[in-house]
Amino acid sequence: MTKDELRQRLEFYQDLGFKTLYRRSVLERASIPDPQPPIPVVSLPTLEPASDSLPRILADIGDCTRCRLHEGRNKIVFGSGNEQARLVFVGEGPGADEDAQGLPFVGRAGQLLTQMIEGTAGKEGIPIKRPDVYICNIVKCRPPENRTPQPDEMEICGQFVFRQLQAIKPKAICALGGTSAKALLGTKQSVTALRGKWHTWCDIPVMVTYHPSYLLRAYNQSAKKEAWEDLKKVLHYVYD
Ligand code: URA
Ligand code: SF4
Repeated sequence: MTKDELRQRLEFYQDLGFKTLYRRSVLERASIPDPQPPIPVVSLPTLEPASDSLPRILADIGDCTRCRLHEGRNKIVFGSGNEQARLVFVGEGPGADEDAQGLPFVGRAGQLLTQMIEGTAGKEGIPIKRPDVYICNIVKCRPPENRTPQPDEMEICGQFVFRQLQAIKPKAICALGGTSAKALLGTKQSVTALRGKWHTWCDIPVMVTYHPSYLLRAYNQSAKKEAWEDLKKVLHYVYD
């Protein structure tokens, strides 16, 4: 900006009634604390436009900076799979591998999820593979150090998973882990209390089961059998 342009700009501000202008560096501005208090309860609003679609939701997300999780992400992880899926899996948020590739459940937990879906379907004589379902997460950007997404992050990003579910309108949803279940169902109950039973989200049946990352830990091996039972239930309900 030239000096003349700057003078013009200042006169313009004066005309608007500004008496004092402060000069502040970008760094100083960045260090001003967020005035918003933490939001204690997760409640996800339904804000979907009348004729919503996955491409439209993706476009609306754009190069999103709506919450602090954008700061550490490499790629936004929108979701993948069949856009007309009868079954949608909802996880918590991307990990390192997902953040690098921009795709959900592609790391170790993802490999286990694929095995769980395809193994159970195969054993039960249900002819589906992973690409037949749709998979996404509550938050689309990787939380630092894989921490649990915070309530305000889930509330801000949750509008998108809501819209995805409304656009796909699956016959059932499978919530993976307590964070996903709590965000979808608006409950504070633990995954142990919620799993294996049917719940509903906007009239769509929701089955809650353990998160595959939880099942990867050696001391949780006994939970695997339960997760397989949960998956069997949801697969039969959707595809029988
Ligand atoms: N864990 C999740 O919750 N989601 C992913 O996409 C990967 C790991
Ligand atoms: Fe935007 Fe969701 Fe990423 Fe936050 S987590 S920056 S709301 S896409």
